[in-house]
Amino acid sequence: MIEEILSQEVDDQALRAEWERIVRAGKHSKKIIRNAQVRGKSKKDPKYYDPNEMVRTGAVDADEYVFLHKAVKYFKPTNILEVGTWFGTSANAMASALPDGGKVYTCDKYDLFVGERPNIEYHNYISTRLIDRIISKGIKIDMAFWDAKFMRGDSEKLIKMVSPLVFLTHDYVQPEKGWRCVQELKERLGDRINVENHGIIGVVTMPIKVGQ
Ligand SMILES: C[S@@+](CC[C@H](N)C(=O)[O-])C[C@H]1O[C@@H](n2cnc3c(N)ncnc32)[C@H](O)[C@@H]1O
Repeated sequence: MIEEILSQEVDDQALRAEWERIVRAGKHSKKIIRNAQVRGKSKKDPKYYDPNEMVRTGAVDADEYVFLHKAVKYFKPTNILEVGTWFGTSANAMASALPDGGKVYTCDKYDLFVGERPNIEYHNYISTRLIDRIISKGIKIDMAFWDAKFMRGDSEKLIKMVSPLVFLTHDYVQPEKGWRCVQELKERLGDRINVENHGIIGVVTMPIKVGQ
């Protein structure tokens, strides 16, 4: 599956330029300094205090940006749920590959979003609140990307909401957050899920619908 995702034809250079534009905007935004101050981050931490530091940025990197874009082209979702917006980097990678009428619904408990786009609906919420909003509005979600930990109850609702399951996660490396998300899905769904990865992006699929 990863090979098929990677074989999707895209404008690699344009996507990388887009990644750089969003990350630079995020790093130059006053929001990141405010966030660092509120969270007591050291003034020596270049992730927060050096706007030209483009390696440790908190966002997905340029390769991952291209991969997420290709994954959307491959899975062809209409609507995507994302948790962990940060600058809106990954949200843009996915939103720019959606068909007309599709949307990325994304949330972050911290407000650092700079990547506005008409088909991105951003909320300064925690995940449980966005999930409950989507369920109450009856919005159909076809794919999810978690750049965050699951909060209590998230995985249970996710499995019912995104069925057949298409779930991508960042930091899929033991014992990081993405790895823990995948362990929780395995506990709930066992062998029925297929897990592959491209670097530290984990891709979890379960072709059958929950209950079948
Ligand atoms: C690594 S950053 C996300 C980077 C982003 N995907 C990008 O490419 O720009 C992780 C973010 O997840 C947020 N987060 C973690 N758990 C969350 C939750 N349960 N609900 C909402 N936001 C959460 C954090 O506040 C943080 O901003």
